[in-house]
Amino acid sequence: MRSASTDKEAQGGTGHTLDVEALRADFPILHQRVHGKPLVYFDNAATTQKPQAVIDTLVKYYREQNANIHRGVHYLSELATYEYEKTRGKIKLFLNAADTREIIFVRGTTEGINLVKDSFGRKFIGAGDEIVISAMEHHSNIVPWQLLCEEKGCILRVVPINDRGELDVEAYEALVNEKTKLVSMVYISNSLGTINPIKRIIAFAHARGVPVLVDGAQATSHLTVDVRNLDCDFFVMSGHKVFGPTGIGVLYGKMHLLESMPPYQAGGDMIRSVTFEKTTFNELPYKFEAGTPNVADVIALGTALDYVQKVGLSAIGDHENNLLRYATKKIGSLEGVRLIGTAAEKASVLSFVLDTVHAHDVGTILDQEGVAIRTGHHCTQPVMARFGVPATARASFAFYNTIAEIDVLTEGIKKVQEVFQA
Ligand code: ALA
Repeated sequence: MRSASTDKEAQGGTGHTLDVEALRADFPILHQRVHGKPLVYFDNAATTQKPQAVIDTLVKYYREQNANIHRGVHYLSELATYEYEKTRGKIKLFLNAADTREIIFVRGTTEGINLVKDSFGRKFIGAGDEIVISAMEHHSNIVPWQLLCEEKGCILRVVPINDRGELDVEAYEALVNEKTKLVSMVYISNSLGTINPIKRIIAFAHARGVPVLVDGAQATSHLTVDVRNLDCDFFVMSGHKVFGPTGIGVLYGKMHLLESMPPYQAGGDMIRSVTFEKTTFNELPYKFEAGTPNVADVIALGTALDYVQKVGLSAIGDHENNLLRYATKKIGSLEGVRLIGTAAEKASVLSFVLDTVHAHDVGTILDQEGVAIRTGHHCTQPVMARFGVPATARASFAFYNTIAEIDVLTEGIKKVQEVFQA
């Protein structure tokens, strides 16, 4: 591996350099061989790896702290409740929310969007109303709205993207009208890497009284998110995309909206009182957290966010930009390779297709070289249709990746081409 400083020299970096080798030491999973080759993990948009601190938090929780929360007066229950609620405070700071009551724990981005659809959508969106999304949405930000449209008779409007994979902002502005009841838009595209001008999108919708949900699944590990600065109404994120556990995520919602919304799921913890005649509901955020939550993973998500903040999102962004620039130049200049997604504003995703080789074959041969990428439609079939391809090969980078690993990927792609030319 080349050192972090070599990485910087290679790319003419911005001056704020990460000690990548030291950071890699925090991730035990990275130090293994796959098919006899050193693992090169380039599937970070699907899920990121976990630092030892996150693993330690999970072990500590189950060894020393496990109990149900909000329910017991005993020591362990109070301890688990304290750690769980302390993490809510960490998330509030991480997203710069105004109040911990605006932070709802969910299973992930997908559940966060479904919560908004089932609660806000069912109450406030009706027949003839319109929901605006974009052509680069993940299926999790398409299908829930389609279900709502079937149920309520509302209409889904889709903002097109250009050949570089950038949002057509003028088309967006033309689509938002008096019938629009919600804009639900991805911040960073998982299959193209495009960073959308989300602040402008939100401001435009707000000027017409339309609330905006931001799918932040790919954003939180690459840039600083400030929900108050963005002024988004809802923001959803997944723990596993930001070096935390799977099965845990966050829905941020502005207090006045969450207050106005009915519960999403019903059960323990979300009630104030229950009789067979009438049930009243708990206050925020518990109204939206029915049943025993994923306590361990909430607490470990807090550790992951502590870790990311210690590394520094600005330094992470600089390093990843260097990786992306280098990879774009190297892989984009290979003959027979076409990049899918060449937006001016991009983060950490390099999707590509080879002229004569299916993406799945690319992925299989790279795997033999120890290189883990994702191949397929990336849960964005409309993006594949837009670019006229069945699938892409996608390398997605995190701060623990290096220039040397991109060289390994590049050589791997050349090998794929050789195999298929023979
Ligand atoms: N949405 C995840 C990805 O892009 C799973 O791979």
